Amino acid sequence: MARFERTNMVWPRALTVVVMTIAAATFTLFGYRLALLGTPALASEQGGVTSADGVGLPQGYRDWPLISVAAVGSPVNDVRAKLGNDIAIADFRRGTIPYRDGAIIARLAWHQSHDQQTGDAIGVQARALGLNEEAIAKLLSGTSVAGAPINVQIMVKDSKKFASTGGWGFAQFTNGKADSIVQTSCFSCHAPAKAVDFVFTRYAQ
Ligand code: HEC
Repeated sequence: MARFERTNMVWPRALTVVVMTIAAATFTLFGYRLALLGTPALASEQGGVTSADGVGLPQGYRDWPLISVAAVGSPVNDVRAKLGNDIAIADFRRGTIPYRDGAIIARLAWHQSHDQQTGDAIGVQARALGLNEEAIAKLLSGTSVAGAPINVQIMVKDSKKFASTGGWGFAQFTNGKADSIVQTSCFSCHAPAKAVDFVFTRYAQ
């Protein structure tokens, strides 16, 4: 009995050591990550594909957190998701303006598409709610999902490198390849949003 109790005493201590070691390792790794995040231009996030202006398609951007969504109507008919890297997301959530160097915003656009199964399910529910056929047709014509990808637009904050375009580098990628765009044409359309550091999107709560 005494031996059993002693064993019981020993294990929790050993476990504590293991847990503390893991915690210390995690802290160390996270600390390094934070140090990296502090570096402007985020070399680690710049992918192999880079625009002529030196704006990269960031590696892993597809896994970044969502800032918000948007859709543009006819004749464009697209749906858009805006994603941000760690610095951008933190700035969006805190409302930090201007955005810090190293912030990257990715705007992904797809053609609006109609999905049969989605439409059928919504139609069934609309009928159950008593909508007439004309109203259902209207409901379904305004219902869409993301279809084929159009392009990915990138804004990367580097207040020194891109000083002439509000501190933002602009680039556009189609099928993973950089399009030849003129940064000032992107910038001039973003110029009305000067008071919010040239960024239109607000964080969707
Ligand atoms: C016709 C005006 C116009 C032009 C030209 C334009 N943008 Fe935008 N851009 C917008 C508007 C409006 C939004 C907000 C709605 C949306 O997300 O599409 C936006 C959003 C964005 C966003 C998400 C951050 C934000 O500001 O909301 C990025 C990134 C972006 N644009 C990059 C570009 C790039 C790169 C180019 C040039 C290739 C470009 N834009 C050209 C108007 C424009």
